[in-house]
Amino acid sequence: MAAAGSAIGLGNIWRFPYLTGENGGAAFVFVYILCVVFIGIPVMWNELALGRYTQKNPIGAIIAVRGKTPWVIIGILSFIVCFLVLGYYSVIAGWTIGYIFTSLFKVQMNFASFTANLAYMIPLYALFIFLTIWIVQCGIEKGIERWTKILMPILFFLCIVVCIRSVTLPNAMAGVRYYLVPDFAKITPQVVLAAVGQAFFSLSVGWGLMIVYGSYMSKQQSIVSGGVSVAVADTTVALLGGFMVFPAVFAFGKSPAGGPTLTFEVLPQVFEMMPGGSIVGAGFFLLLMLAALTSSISMLEVPVSYYVDEKKWSRKYASWIVGIMAFIVGIPSALSCGASQWLSSVEFVGQKGFMNIMDQFFGTLSLVLIALLICLFTGWRCNIHDFVDEMAIGAPGFKQKRLIFSLAQMWMFFTRVLCPTVLTVLLLSQIGFKINPVHVAIVLFLLLAILHFVFPAKRKNQA
Ligand code: PFF
Repeated sequence: MAAAGSAIGLGNIWRFPYLTGENGGAAFVFVYILCVVFIGIPVMWNELALGRYTQKNPIGAIIAVRGKTPWVIIGILSFIVCFLVLGYYSVIAGWTIGYIFTSLFKVQMNFASFTANLAYMIPLYALFIFLTIWIVQCGIEKGIERWTKILMPILFFLCIVVCIRSVTLPNAMAGVRYYLVPDFAKITPQVVLAAVGQAFFSLSVGWGLMIVYGSYMSKQQSIVSGGVSVAVADTTVALLGGFMVFPAVFAFGKSPAGGPTLTFEVLPQVFEMMPGGSIVGAGFFLLLMLAALTSSISMLEVPVSYYVDEKKWSRKYASWIVGIMAFIVGIPSALSCGASQWLSSVEFVGQKGFMNIMDQFFGTLSLVLIALLICLFTGWRCNIHDFVDEMAIGAPGFKQKRLIFSLAQMWMFFTRVLCPTVLTVLLLSQIGFKINPVHVAIVLFLLLAILHFVFPAKRKNQA
């Protein structure tokens, strides 16, 4: 439940719809689902197994398996990503707090002037980070699980209510078609990168977080079915997110490629067209804020668990120090939605605005890099059978052959061959290498597949 609470958040309702709109609609949704199944879930299992096997935080886990080698970079990168994303994630979560009140009191708010107004932005942002720190300092089970179990089902129910209103608006069917009927010609490497990045963002995979949560799992629990349940719950909410937004986007005659503000511009209009809309709207944004909170606490948990485990800081001290630092580092993001001209228009890595640059760099590219390194680490540098054995604890069917292969054999193939191929090609094409992605993918795939079958990882008792 805690992992599902981490996965379900702004990524589903804010980020997924706007990326779908920017990347061609249904074609993106199609690629996204493939990415969740074939890349997201295998890497999530990988992280959970690494965590439960070592009983450590991301940095400690790598050191526990292979000592102080350069692979520790995986843990360090996870730490940095969680810390930096926490800043801008909380800025957006602050918007949801603002929207609770504007919905409730029916304040007509122009979104652009809201985000440009520092008198709203900074206090809302500070309030959200404060809530995050306060829960994390209380400790993991008490803090996180209590919230998640009660609130997520209510959010789910409200999402369905909003979807029903959205798809029954006039001209909503154009939006449904845009969302569900793919035009495969729109699939480019850029779209695949956005989809893989979004899968990692939304599933909370590639952040080291699942290593931490794996370390909190008991040996009776199944990593395999637990991971699948989290992915199913997360993807369901993301798909609902799209169903809430796109029919309404078309009904109101807006552009689906409206960027990061899409959800926040469209949903208030949907609420206005519902009976009791101000209460439904306020309730929705309240629950969305709480969903963001169960995500942000897990983001803060990664650096905090490191300081508590390895540096022996108290949980309270670590939560406050890391949280306040993340707040300071996130201030430029809060200023980059209109308040500061320069931060709002600065361009880098193909993105405009400081927050979008941070999101592309740390919320997309870094996750792909971390996931790639994790696959290479467990697949090629460690003995992958250690992790297969770990996953089989609590999931005895994992090693049983079904038809030709067992799930364990498939997972090993995905971890050693398929995921590294896709992730490497995406990174190379992003870093600016002028490659033909399909050719490079085929060569790399064949190479890794040959190595995989010719030099299979040895089981310990075979060695
Ligand atoms: N998965 C969260 C979302 O979709 O909003 C974001 C997230 C939270 C990622 C916590 C990573 C993490 F550690």
